[in-house]
Amino acid sequence: MSNARPDNRATKQAGTASLRLFVALAAAAGLGLGSSCSLNPVHSRAVSDLGPERPEDYPPESEFHRPGEPCALCHSSDGPADSKFVLAGTIFWGPDNYLRRVDNAYVRVKDANKVEKCFVTNCNGNFFVRPEQFPRLTFPLLVSVERTKAPGRDDSSLKFRRMNSHIGREASCGRCHLNLDGQSIRDFGSPGQIRLYDAEPEVDALQLPPNVNNGQACPAAPETVVLQCPEDRQ
Ligand code: HEC
Ligand code: HEC
Repeated sequence: MSNARPDNRATKQAGTASLRLFVALAAAAGLGLGSSCSLNPVHSRAVSDLGPERPEDYPPESEFHRPGEPCALCHSSDGPADSKFVLAGTIFWGPDNYLRRVDNAYVRVKDANKVEKCFVTNCNGNFFVRPEQFPRLTFPLLVSVERTKAPGRDDSSLKFRRMNSHIGREASCGRCHLNLDGQSIRDFGSPGQIRLYDAEPEVDALQLPPNVNNGQACPAAPETVVLQCPEDRQ
């Protein structure tokens, strides 16, 4: 019995040592770039609280991953993602069902300089804005979300919603619109996931194709993917 423990500990320590080395290297790399990534315990904690990728739900580390989560927490200069987003989030059909996300929704943003741009959600309901897609984006922002009847084919409105208040400075919609998937960062006072309909039965009545807005079905068939909002098409 007293023999087993040191052995176990030795194995554990070897693991911990290589993890430490990895963390030290990552921190050194971060320092070289003038970033404070792995040295900020609050940031590291917030990232690790999100938990691991869920490959059973979506293709990991892809544009379809982590729906509803605060994208820019990781996609920022603090890392861990390499790519940075100035704005990103996920649109859901209803208030409670985490598995029904809206593909080809139009997310319109108007910044403090009155510059307006529109972005389209992918087949898992995610949208994201890279810095070069909205140069000089200036907070506060006004946002709205629209889904048309058959995006790209029949762009008459199915549902439109506008957020009444401004977004003061936060790049992740999911920071405030925490989803109901048991994420550890839930908060009371959250407006809930961004949804088109306020009740799930209203969504049921639409008779959406089963599984269509669920990460397992992503990427979607190319002919169903809409790349631009109606106003951006020539
Ligand atoms: C827990 C951290 C984390 C969260 C939260 C997160 N990502 Fe990522 N994401 C990553 C990492 C790490 C990669 C791997 C590639 C990289 O480093 O950029 C990645 C990759 C990606 C990629 C492919 C690389 C690229 O730039 O084209 C996209 C797109 C993306 N994520 C979008 C999102 C969106 C949208 C959200 C929110 C709905 C999100 N991510 C949430 C960490 C995260
Ligand atoms: C700083 C917190 C915060 C952030 C960040 C945020 N929201 Fe909101 N959002 C709210 C609150 C609070 C409400 C409810 C009151 C209101 O409409 O202003 C809301 C409501 C909404 C509504 C519903 C309005 C209605 O019809 O009832 C939509 C749509 C919306 N937000 C979209 C977004 C999108 C898209 C993003 C990211 C680009 C985003 N929000 C980011 C706080 C936030």
